[in-house]
Amino acid sequence: MPSAVKKSNANSKRAQPIISVVVPTYNEAQNLPILIPRIASALAKMPHEIIVADDNSPDGTFTVAKNLEKKFPQVKSILRTHNRGLSPSVLDAFAVATGEYLAVIDADLQHDEKILPRFVDKFVAGSDIVIGSRKAEGGGIEGWSALRRFVSWTATQMARILLPGLPSDPMSGFFAIRAKLYYAIAPQINPRGFKILLEIIAHTPKAKIAEVGYVFRPRTHGESKLSGSVILSYLMALYDLRFGKILPIKYIKFSLVGLLGLVVNQSVLFLLKRFAHLTNEIALVPAIEVAIIFNYFLNNLFTFRETRIRGFIANLKGLVLFQVICLFGAYINYATALHLSGFLHVNIYAANFLGILLASFWNYFINSQVIWHR
Ligand code: GDD
Ligand code: MN
Repeated sequence: MPSAVKKSNANSKRAQPIISVVVPTYNEAQNLPILIPRIASALAKMPHEIIVADDNSPDGTFTVAKNLEKKFPQVKSILRTHNRGLSPSVLDAFAVATGEYLAVIDADLQHDEKILPRFVDKFVAGSDIVIGSRKAEGGGIEGWSALRRFVSWTATQMARILLPGLPSDPMSGFFAIRAKLYYAIAPQINPRGFKILLEIIAHTPKAKIAEVGYVFRPRTHGESKLSGSVILSYLMALYDLRFGKILPIKYIKFSLVGLLGLVVNQSVLFLLKRFAHLTNEIALVPAIEVAIIFNYFLNNLFTFRETRIRGFIANLKGLVLFQVICLFGAYINYATALHLSGFLHVNIYAANFLGILLASFWNYFINSQVIWHR
């Protein structure tokens, strides 16, 4: 019998896993050979699988994972080569997981794998989401600097003020969710930044959440990937979860870009008048045009980064469309201001302000639907 067939027979005989443990990795070649046996022995009493989701780590983590598969048949490794990041890795692993419960644990040995069976107990008792918590009973943190404690505390407090009813450790990277519940909300999950749990909780308002305390251990091998930009994207995610439905963060970015465009517009006008001695009628045309081009590219790189347009021709088309849409926006601004001041005798500055506001809504919503849609 060819060996491939033998192998697939062996696989099909494996019992359906109760729990799938996802291990996202980036440069964890030294930690993985310690972690996998630990998880295997913590879960020795139940059918389980371990899914390593590696982002093509330069230190060869994937090869290490592949080798571990030989000794631990419950291990599956995924090699990711696009869209690097912790959250997208976790979602990719969830997509191929077959367990009844889906768990995530860091590879760097900071999370205590010994509490995994207690996660399962909580599910059996009716919970939908179980969080390994440093702040619940029995939890704690070993060896953190005062600064890191403070940053973590501040971030947690902000999350709890903005989204009341959150569990004690909403940023935990150590948690599990009932697979059925995950499949129901998966299409709404935005895989941004580090905060996949926060994202999941925000989309499961009715879920029964349980916590299991554990002591967060210091990292011994490799280094943390949590950086300033991670904190920024966390803050933006918080904003979006709380206020996103009222005023999307992208609209705020779009408005900021618009304000910068105003500065560019005025500066070009000033320069052309001062140094090229152009008349107002003529100088205004390039001033507006430069501002539009500037706004288009800044929106492409900043506001709509996730769906940004690449390539020369595509950007040319985008730019033309952007012009047309913004031109109509300018007309909305103009007509609103004139009508409000002319017929309703509203102060012209107040009328113009309302006009600008309406135009910016139009510009934002139409541009995001037409040019930068998914
Ligand atoms: N696949 C993949 N891709 N894995 C990644 C990436 C990535 O881009 N970045 C980090 N990881 C993996 C690491 O290899 C590790 O297994 C895990 O994700 C956590 O990364 P760390 O770099 O160790 O994060 P941390 O210890 O600073 O942050 C942890 O604690 C935070 C709470 O303070 C994480 O658990 C966070 O999720 C948690 O919010
Ligand atoms: Mn870590």
